[in-house]
Amino acid sequence: MIELKDIDVIFSNDDKVVTAVKDVNITVDRGEIFGIVGYSGAGKSTLVRTINLLQPPTQGTVTVNGQEMQKLSKKELRGARKKIGMIFQHFNLMDSRTIFDNVAFPLKGSGLSKDEVAHKVAELLDLVGLEEKTDNYPSQLSGGQKQRVAIARALANDPDVLLCDEATSALDPKTTSSILDLLRKLNEQLGLTIVIITHEMSVVKDLCHRVAVMEDGHVLEQGSIVDMFTNPQKSLTKEFINTATHFDQEIGLVLTHPMIQNIDENGEIIRLSYVGDETTKPILSNLVREFDVNVNILYGHVEILQNTPIGNMLIAVEGTSENVDKVIEHLENSDVSTQRFNDLVKEYVKREG
Ligand SMILES: Nc1ncnc2c1ncn2[C@@H]1O[C@H](COP(=O)(O)OP(=O)(O)O)[C@@H](O)[C@H]1O
Ligand SMILES: [Mg+2]
Repeated sequence: MIELKDIDVIFSNDDKVVTAVKDVNITVDRGEIFGIVGYSGAGKSTLVRTINLLQPPTQGTVTVNGQEMQKLSKKELRGARKKIGMIFQHFNLMDSRTIFDNVAFPLKGSGLSKDEVAHKVAELLDLVGLEEKTDNYPSQLSGGQKQRVAIARALANDPDVLLCDEATSALDPKTTSSILDLLRKLNEQLGLTIVIITHEMSVVKDLCHRVAVMEDGHVLEQGSIVDMFTNPQKSLTKEFINTATHFDQEIGLVLTHPMIQNIDENGEIIRLSYVGDETTKPILSNLVREFDVNVNILYGHVEILQNTPIGNMLIAVEGTSENVDKVIEHLENSDVSTQRFNDLVKEYVKREG
């Protein structure tokens, strides 16, 4: 559906040269929700603007819907852009126009009659749950409602693709999740392909099928949301994930809690991460039975991503040092991935200082 191939974007102003995007290769399938996560300045907005050539790449090719965008004539490009909707952090509505006029705006020049436009706008406002607000002005709407208007407007020309640039970053958590629910509904009902860029992993984790992590213009890694959450390769990815799952916060709490001091000297604290079927297996009771150790749960959390349960647990294992070693060996040979507390703390301290 969307293919970004070997994309570079280089800005040269006066004597300053900024490489905003470097060597990026991303393909997004039809009907997919694809997330791009990175901190401010990573190059996300620049990259996403290459999809509709609002930002022509310095290097590389952009293909959308089988059309190589850079080869289109001006007129063809205008047509192609109509099939790529876009929404932004600050909604970009026209404040002096009614909600109706805002949504009808992209239909100018579409050849639709006045009645047909009215019908289309009513349909779009119904889709985003704002049919009552047609005669209101943007200033009379909440942030979430404004974003719904922006979504209705972006869908006016029945696009195949919706690009979302930090679309929920100005919204509170509850409104954010209602907008994400709406995007999911549009994806499922209309088959809309969605690219969503954000600095928050929590935004993509329940919504996206695949995700790419960006830093300094590069894509560090990309993959399915389940793979990224269970087997992240780069420390930046781990950082985003630990923030989204609150794992860092929990480690911080566990680290400073007196119970750590009370674990006996042969005891080991271990992080267990497990996916899918492993979450339903009696891992802990097996350890206790087989290795004659005590197991204490310090922290536990299960998350369901793309219908796949993902578990994270911090346990203290106490027993003879021989048995504790056997437990760790046993876990390391199972499908549960393990990390010893000391390694965990090292990573944590590196991230949190
Ligand atoms: N028009 C521009 N001219 C010069 N530099 C730019 C321009 N647009 C973006 N940049 C620079 O490119 C880099 C990436 O910016 P951007 O794509 O906005 O990142 P993000 O959306 O991830 O915050 C930043 O260093 C930014 O300052
Ligand atoms: Mg940006």
